[in-house]
Amino acid sequence: MIVVVVMLNMTFRPQTFPPYWFGGVTVVDSGNSNFKKGDLVWGGTGWEEYSIINDPQFLFKIQDTDVPLSYYTGILGMPGMTAYYGLYKICAPKKGEYVFVSAASGAVGQLVGQFAKLTGCYVVGSAGTKEKVDLLKNKFGFDEAFNYKEEQDLDAALKKYFPEGIDIYFENVGGKMLEDVLLNMRENGRISVCGLISQYNLVEEEGVKNLFCVVTKRLLLKGFIISDHFNLYPKYLEMVMPLIKEGNICYIEDIVEGLENAPVALIGLFSGKNVGKQVVAQMEDVRNQQVVLKDYVNGFPKESDMLLKTSTVPLKLPQSSNAVLVKNLYLSCDPYMRGRMSKNEGSYIGSFTPGSPIAGYGVSKVVDSGNSNFKKGELVWGGTGWEEYSITAPETLFKIQHTDVPLSYYTGILGMPGMTAYYGFYEICAPKKGEYVFVSAASGAVGQLVGQFAKLTGCHVVGTAGSKEKVELLKTKFGFDDAFNYKEEQNLDAALKRYFPEGIDIYFENVGGKMLEAVLLNMRVNGRISACGMISQYNLNEEEGVRNLSCIVMKRLQMKGFIISDHYDLYPKYIEMVIPLIKEGKICYIEDVAEGIESAPAALVGIFSGKNVGKQVVVVARE
Ligand SMILES: NC(=O)c1ccc[n+]([C@@H]2O[C@H](COP(=O)([O-])OP(=O)(O)OC[C@H]3O[C@@H](n4cnc5c(N)ncnc54)[C@H](OP(=O)(O)O)[C@@H]3O)[C@@H](O)[C@H]2O)c1
Repeated sequence: MIVVVVMLNMTFRPQTFPPYWFGGVTVVDSGNSNFKKGDLVWGGTGWEEYSIINDPQFLFKIQDTDVPLSYYTGILGMPGMTAYYGLYKICAPKKGEYVFVSAASGAVGQLVGQFAKLTGCYVVGSAGTKEKVDLLKNKFGFDEAFNYKEEQDLDAALKKYFPEGIDIYFENVGGKMLEDVLLNMRENGRISVCGLISQYNLVEEEGVKNLFCVVTKRLLLKGFIISDHFNLYPKYLEMVMPLIKEGNICYIEDIVEGLENAPVALIGLFSGKNVGKQVVAQMEDVRNQQVVLKDYVNGFPKESDMLLKTSTVPLKLPQSSNAVLVKNLYLSCDPYMRGRMSKNEGSYIGSFTPGSPIAGYGVSKVVDSGNSNFKKGELVWGGTGWEEYSITAPETLFKIQHTDVPLSYYTGILGMPGMTAYYGFYEICAPKKGEYVFVSAASGAVGQLVGQFAKLTGCHVVGTAGSKEKVELLKTKFGFDDAFNYKEEQNLDAALKRYFPEGIDIYFENVGGKMLEAVLLNMRVNGRISACGMISQYNLNEEEGVRNLSCIVMKRLQMKGFIISDHYDLYPKYIEMVIPLIKEGKICYIEDVAEGIESAPAALVGIFSGKNVGKQVVVVARE
């Protein structure tokens, strides 16, 4: 296994290809008694498949392999040491101090922020996209973060985030940022000058003003080159390894595969394309983290019913295969998956196998294909495993044609739940303008769309959901005419009578049980019920009985169940309808995004207690 790392701030001499910098490698042969064939090492290597390393002074043996190997290009390698030395040794942070980190979502910055939080500091980071700013706050636990590209006046932004000033600045970018940070430093502040990436591509360095603050505020500015301090590596490992294993620190990597993609990955660093540590993996086998079902589930599923297992997978299909090997980008948490977690013979869909990864819908990129309909590099959505890489059956996959919408939408509005709302509402209920429509689980993946489709048809729409926040969303974001929190209603029949004094023409049924019982009493003659799902029953060992079915007869109701996978022939028609609605802003879609495959079990379990606000998605990797 060869891992090559993309690094910053390296001056490569023209014509001396390959560039030479840090990576993780396997020793193939050794003339040095410290290294043996088969040893895993990290350190200086060439950007090539095999390298001869004449001077192994910068090669470190990898002792601990129960962490991702690629971490030795980041948190367990040079950038990790950089964050450690630059923050602890140069800045000597104290609890309660104010810390600012630039390029904060990068290989070094994400660690500096987390180390500072562990020290008890108040930490603010800056990064160049909304997505990165969200990561800083939600994943790395920064107290605040901002997008420096959106700030007209960096000085004013820093004053807003640090009204008391900055004690420690971890300098990764230089230029204008440094100029404004200097204005905001407190007396006796420390600046760890780690890098000045904003200057690396300029023919002539920009001048930085405000340096006089160094004098007046008695600041310390200290530059360093981390390779001077590798003697501290064992001490750093001793500190950081338990933090990783106990989940007290996390590390985000942006992994591209194939040495042929290394130049693009390297260049991407300078325009901020990378989200997290940029790594180039040149491998036969790659790590494959998987969400495995431990055993069949009884009652409500728990996070502990699943475990995260690390295995490896070859990135090439066998010659004779007609399957498709994909890299999973987004996984979809769907209620029907609960049924597959139990032993259920005779169901429309099979059970998961205990000890194996669970499966569902996802958005993926084709890595290798034995099927002529799919080519390497194409984006697809459809059936896939809950793991980083899956071998999938081509008949479950749809090609993604429109990429100028968020890719994650293909787990929701542009995927299975979208089709469900479309088919269940239009094809089953045949809605007419002016009709009264009721939607349960209305803020979920399907419900939010049904309500909006019904509004576009000119219906009067009321939704129900399980929290105040969701009820607000229904009314203010999705344009429902009214909404209520079913958990706050003692008497659902009375609530429905309040919201539908004239009765209900169309009920989009997502929950079943007591709700259905009350709805039946409030349906109008010739009403239609689209029986899409009954989530209130999925975790019961025995289904509840539903009363008031006689209303179906008396009121000549039609109740029609469906399984959306029977109707995918309509997908192109649906896409034709919905893409313009999205692009023209006539429909919106709310997602609840969980970051990282490790967060998948909690995200899945959460939908059964209504934790999700909108479509629950898990990001495994970003494109
Ligand atoms: N027939 C098909 O082919 C098909 C396809 C897709 C989905 N479905 C069904 O459609 C329904 C909605 O799916 P979705 O993907 O939109 O769901 P979702 O986004 O995952 O949301 C599920 C929501 O259901 C609500 N819920 C959970 N337990 C409940 C209970 N005991 N009583 C009432 N509400 C409960 C929760 O919101 P609250 O806060 O509002 O409680 C939860 O957030 C499900 O029943 C699903 O099985 C069917």
